[in-house]
Amino acid sequence: AATNRYEAESAPAVCDGAIASNHVGYSGSGFCDTNNTIGSAVQLTVNTAAAGTATLTIRYANGTTANRSADISVNGAMAQPGFGFEGTGAWTAWASKTLPLQLNAGTNTVRLAATTAGGLGNIDYLDV
Ligand code: GCU
Repeated sequence: AATNRYEAESAPAVCDGAIASNHVGYSGSGFCDTNNTIGSAVQLTVNTAAAGTATLTIRYANGTTANRSADISVNGAMAQPGFGFEGTGAWTAWASKTLPLQLNAGTNTVRLAATTAGGLGNIDYLDV
C-alpha cells in the first residue's frame, strides 16, 4: 500500500512544545520540539484502510548523547514502552526508526510520550 506521511507540525497532530524550524533537514515546514520533561508528547492521527499490523517509520533528531526514549501508545493503549530514540549526533542529523504497530481500520491515535526528563527528540514525521 502507498505510504502516507503525517508531519508532526501539521494539524491534527498535537505537539507538547513548539513547532520549530531552526535545524535544517526536516521534511515539510518544521518539526515538533517537545518540552524537556517526562511525559511530553507528540500525538498523530493516522488513517489506515484495513486493520492489521502496519510498519511505522518515525523520523527524528536527537543532538544529545542520551536516549530520549518514548512510550508509544495506539488509541490509548500502550504498544511499545520505552522505545529508543538514540542520539543522532546533531540536531541537524535526522534518522528514522521503524516499528510494527497494530492499527484499526480508519482513524488511529498514535502517541509518543517521553520517558526521560529531556523530553522527546525533535520529531519530524511519521510514515505509515
Ligand atoms: C536544543 C535544540 C532543540 C532541542 C533541545 C532539546 O535547544 O536547539 O532543537 O529540542 O535542545 O534538548 O530538546
